[in-house]
Amino acid sequence: MSIDFKARSDYAVFSTHYPYLLDNYRRVNDYSRSIARSNSFHPQFEDASQITYAYNTKPSERILEPEEAMADHDEVMEYEQMVQGLAHHIVINKSFVKEAVNLGVTEGKILDIGCGEGTIASMLFKENESYEVYGIDLSENMIEKAEEINKKEGLRGKINYDVGDVSRLPYSDGYFDLAVSNHLLHHLPDRAKMVEVLKEIQRVTKSDGAIFVKDICRPENEEKLVEYAAKFGTVYPEGLQKEIYLNSIQAGMSFEEWKELISVSGLLSGIGVELKEVYHLDCPTHLLFVKRSLNVE
Ligand SMILES: C[S@@+](CC[C@H](N)C(=O)[O-])C[C@H]1O[C@@H](n2cnc3c(N)ncnc32)[C@H](O)[C@@H]1O
Repeated sequence: MSIDFKARSDYAVFSTHYPYLLDNYRRVNDYSRSIARSNSFHPQFEDASQITYAYNTKPSERILEPEEAMADHDEVMEYEQMVQGLAHHIVINKSFVKEAVNLGVTEGKILDIGCGEGTIASMLFKENESYEVYGIDLSENMIEKAEEINKKEGLRGKINYDVGDVSRLPYSDGYFDLAVSNHLLHHLPDRAKMVEVLKEIQRVTKSDGAIFVKDICRPENEEKLVEYAAKFGTVYPEGLQKEIYLNSIQAGMSFEEWKELISVSGLLSGIGVELKEVYHLDCPTHLLFVKRSLNVE
C-alpha cells in the first residue's frame, strides 16, 4: 500500500482553492511521520506514507451545512448568481426539469420542495404553462428573491411561494400531481428529519402522481473529497461559491445511506420506482430518486 500520486497532484491543484484541506494534509503527513519514527504505536504500518494513505481513505463522516436554511442575504445573492450564471448549473438544472416533465404529468399542481430562489420552479412553469406551480422554502430571503425574479420575468402571480419547514408541508394529502426536490435533503440536520420530509413528500403527492428527488452524495473519503473538489474547483469562482460547494458535498449522504433512508420512508415500495447514482464530471456525485406517474407506461 502506498500513497497514490494522482491524489497527490489533486492536492496540489486543490490547495490553491481550499487551503484548509492542504493544512490538514500537511498535518496528517507530519503526524504520520512522527508516528512512523516511533512506530511501536502502529506496527501494522511500515512507513509514514501508509499511515497517510490509511487516513485519507478512511470512510468520510458527514459534516453538516453551517445553517439548515440559507438565510444569509449574501449567501442568497451568491447562490442566485451560481445557479443562474454558471453554465454547469444551467445545464444540470435544464436536464433536471426535462426529466421531471418527462415523467408524464402534463397538467395539474406541481410542488418544488426546498425551492431556494425559485429557478427550478420558474423553469417548470416555462416548460409547461398549464402547470400550477408551488415552491416552498424555510428561508424568507430565498422566497423574497424568488418573488423578485418572478416579477422581473413577468411571472408574478403564476408561481405560488410559501415560507415554511418542509417537514410539515402546509398542503392537504394528495394535493400535488408532481413533487420535485433538488439539493434540499443534504441541508437537513439528521436522518430522522430526512425521513419525515420524504414521508411528507409522499403524503402531499397523489397516489398516481410522480416524485422526482435529486441530492448530493458525499465523497467516500478524504482522497475522493480532494479529487471532486479539484475537478469541481474549476467550475466555481473563488470565494463564497466555492465554499457553498465544499460545504454541500460534505453534508451529503453516501449512496447507500440515501438508499436506506428512502427505503425506511416507504418510497421504495410500489411500481415505477428508480434509484440511481448520477455522475457529473465523471464523479458519482448525486443520487436520483424517481417515482413515475402510474398513468404512464
Ligand atoms: C442548496 S439549496 C437548493 C435550492 C434549490 N432547490 C435549487 O436546486 O437550487 C437548499 C435549500 O433548502 C432550504 N431548506 C433547508 N432546510 C429546509 C427546511 N427544513 N424546509 C424548507 N426549506 C429548507 C434552504 O433554505 C435552501 O434554500
